[in-house]
Amino acid sequence: MELKSAVLAIAVLCLALPLAALSQSAQPPVADTPAPAPAPHHVNLTDLLSLAGPYGTFLDYLERTDVLRTLQSMANATDVDASHPGLTVFAPEDSAFAAVDAAALSNLTSDELRTLMLCHAAPRYLPLSSFAALAASGPVATLAGGSQCAVNVTYAAGRISVASGWTSKARLVTSVYSTRPVAVYALDAVLLPRQVFPAEPAVAAPVPAPAPSPPVTSDGAPAGATERGASKSLSCRLGDAGGALVAYLSLLGFGFLMM
Ligand SMILES: *[C@@H]1O[C@H](CO)[C@@H](O)[C@H](O)[C@H]1NC(C)=O
Ligand SMILES: *[C@@H]1O[C@H](CO)[C@@H](O)[C@H](O)[C@H]1NC(C)=O
Ligand SMILES: *[C@@H]1O[C@H](CO)[C@@H](O)[C@H](O)[C@H]1NC(C)=O
Ligand SMILES: *[C@@H]1O[C@H](CO)[C@@H](O)[C@H](O)[C@H]1NC(C)=O
Repeated sequence: MELKSAVLAIAVLCLALPLAALSQSAQPPVADTPAPAPAPHHVNLTDLLSLAGPYGTFLDYLERTDVLRTLQSMANATDVDASHPGLTVFAPEDSAFAAVDAAALSNLTSDELRTLMLCHAAPRYLPLSSFAALAASGPVATLAGGSQCAVNVTYAAGRISVASGWTSKARLVTSVYSTRPVAVYALDAVLLPRQVFPAEPAVAAPVPAPAPSPPVTSDGAPAGATERGASKSLSCRLGDAGGALVAYLSLLGFGFLMM
């Protein structure tokens, strides 16, 4: 009799444990990520530019010129301070590259192409909230250095544009990524510095986008990346819960046998 109640007590205990695990792992993923979510140590620019949108041409040029490695090592810097103030990338969309005279681009030497890529990045993290001030403060230096590759910012009624060389207006269409120390913004035009293009290259008139991108209004992280992370951890959690449920059901069977 005593043995039987001891076994019963153990069986009940065994039932309670997986139940606790079940209720814990069934909690929504938001619950165990407190407000200052642990930010990833660095963003993978290759993944970001290939997955987050139509920046394949830009990524291809970055890889060919090895500028990608320069940008990634800047993005990797975790000791963000005065000597590592971060990185801002202006990523022209594929349609922007397609609009530029193909001969003008294919004529470029690898050094010129490299300079062109470096003209699309600033060695500072520039959150969207800083652009109004940047518009007033004058040209922003890029990684290419020199005033010819600097970028002028305009900010009017919440719309941000950048200008450089022959490009008088490249609209900042969306914030692809913005988490200190890295910001990546999409442009609807390629920046065409005079340093790289002594003569103005032909650029086709912009084609109105079929699906307008939402205007840039806030400084948020890319929704896609966040959702991917969330759904991944959700599926892990469902897996855990499933395991606990199987354990619970088999123990339930075991408990009945003992009685
Ligand atoms: C970025 O991800 C790609 C695969 O998606 C990988 O090949 C590459 O090594 C990663 N780069 C860094 C800097 O983590
Ligand atoms: C950036 O960091 C990743 C992982 O920490 C590493 O694999 C990669 O080689 C680094 N890239 C550069 C260019 O420093
Ligand atoms: C490309 O280079 C060739 C020869 O160097 C030159 O004749 C031609 O005008 C260039 N085309 C463009 C679009 O710059
Ligand atoms: C930026 O604007 C200044 C004057 O406002 C102008 O002199 C300069 O050429 C512009 N720079 C570029 C890269 O467009």
